[in-house]
Amino acid sequence: MTIQSALSVYKNTLSSHLKIFKLNVFLNRNLKPDFMNLTLKVWRQKNASDKGGFVTYNVKDISTDMSFLEMFDVLNEELIGKGEEAIAFDHDCREGICGMCSMYINGRPHGPLKGTTTCQLHMRYFKDGETITVEPWRAKAFPVIKDLVVDRSSFDRIQHAGGYISVSTGNAPDANSTPVPKDIAEEAFDAAACIGCGACVAACKNGSAMLFVSAKVAQLSLLPQGKPESKQRALSMLDAMDEEGFGHCTNTNACEAECPKNISVANIATLNREYILGALEK
Ligand code: SF4
Ligand code: FES
Repeated sequence: MTIQSALSVYKNTLSSHLKIFKLNVFLNRNLKPDFMNLTLKVWRQKNASDKGGFVTYNVKDISTDMSFLEMFDVLNEELIGKGEEAIAFDHDCREGICGMCSMYINGRPHGPLKGTTTCQLHMRYFKDGETITVEPWRAKAFPVIKDLVVDRSSFDRIQHAGGYISVSTGNAPDANSTPVPKDIAEEAFDAAACIGCGACVAACKNGSAMLFVSAKVAQLSLLPQGKPESKQRALSMLDAMDEEGFGHCTNTNACEAECPKNISVANIATLNREYILGALEK
């Protein structure tokens, strides 16, 4: 989808998002949300080759019950009303699942709240009168496309390099035909919670994607279905990570600290083990 068509879809859905929000406020009117005025310094960049820069906006009467993205919807509605171009930002599910809503808020990936995506960050965590700086991810492997939107297709290519299991398709196997201990299933599930948002890369001073890759490798290598290819998977995915221009891990753990899904750096140990075993077998 082109930026133009994405923006047109966005414009069409914008008013319905706001209507739902206003309805929610109406239904919960006894809870009386507070309202705030804010100054936003937002990165605007026309395209990949534009130099870009910060533009300051004042937004008024923002409800503390709004999400950060709904606050942007209000600003964009105002910009569109004035005949100006809306700020481009990625979003889809708005419920912490898709990993699209990637941006730095006051220098932190997804903002100040631990374990929270931008779409689930509410304005009540900011102060009335505050100045908030919003920027796109800054990483060599995530080039800016426009405003706050970056190209994260490098993650897709890493996935294509090995983030799957090779199985013959056919009828679904009977439930419980492959028993998995509960603690292992939970560990794999925790790794599978990675939403591919890229905050780990954005938080890392080296721009490393080790936490992302380790989550994808661990979620499969922990389970019986993923074990047969686990070493080759680690080799292929790490090679792809290097080819895409991500940096190396120097164990600062900034990735874990800023991950909105609380993915553990323990997965990196799993990835390293699989990689070393694979390299020894080569
Ligand atoms: S490991 Fe965390 S920060 Fe990195 S892509 Fe997955 S969910 Fe996002
Ligand atoms: S919009 Fe899907 S995770 Fe935020």
